[in-house]
Amino acid sequence: MTNAQESQKHLLAATAALIGAAEMDPTLDLPDIGLATASLANRGPLLSGEPVCPPLVSELLDAVELPEIHHLQSMLLALRDAAPTLRWIDPYADRPDQAEFRAGYFATVLAGDPTRDASLTVGTEASIFITVQAPRILYPPHSHLAPELYCAVAGNAEWKKGDGPFELMPPDSWMVHSPWTSHAMQTRAEPLVALAIWTADRDCIISLDD
Ligand SMILES: [Fe+2]
Repeated sequence: MTNAQESQKHLLAATAALIGAAEMDPTLDLPDIGLATASLANRGPLLSGEPVCPPLVSELLDAVELPEIHHLQSMLLALRDAAPTLRWIDPYADRPDQAEFRAGYFATVLAGDPTRDASLTVGTEASIFITVQAPRILYPPHSHLAPELYCAVAGNAEWKKGDGPFELMPPDSWMVHSPWTSHAMQTRAEPLVALAIWTADRDCIISLDD
């Protein structure tokens, strides 16, 4: 096994531990989070693809404050190590009008559905993504059919859901978005690293609300 594959497996294990801790926390009561656990437990092999890691991704991962909570800290450390071996995508490459947002927003698919060709592996029951957002960037309101669970892994950013206000959500906050619920993230002075999970309709597209 190569060093890259070791790093990737370590990241998948750290992600599974983070998700497992949330699943065991009765105060969170996250709908269908068990599907994410199952998806990683039953995942396919690591897919070989050329890594694409813009230098800014590693810079942001190094800059964000290490969370105090153990499972978040472990995941961020694993992500710092594995990031250069992953394929970071620009989900809004078809939106030249969103240049400022796109210059500071990166996503990678840890566990995708079979239709998503940039995935690290294929997850069986849920899709799992990592997002990295630079400071002072607005991810504009957007929505999608897939029901979504989001964890703020590192960085204090403002999150908006539906018609509600932007609210500061520290690391270890979980957000639940039912199908077509609009949501948005606004970073402050620090980057945001987040984990997103889709538990159904995993081949759907994301629409900005504009
Ligand atoms: Fe979303």
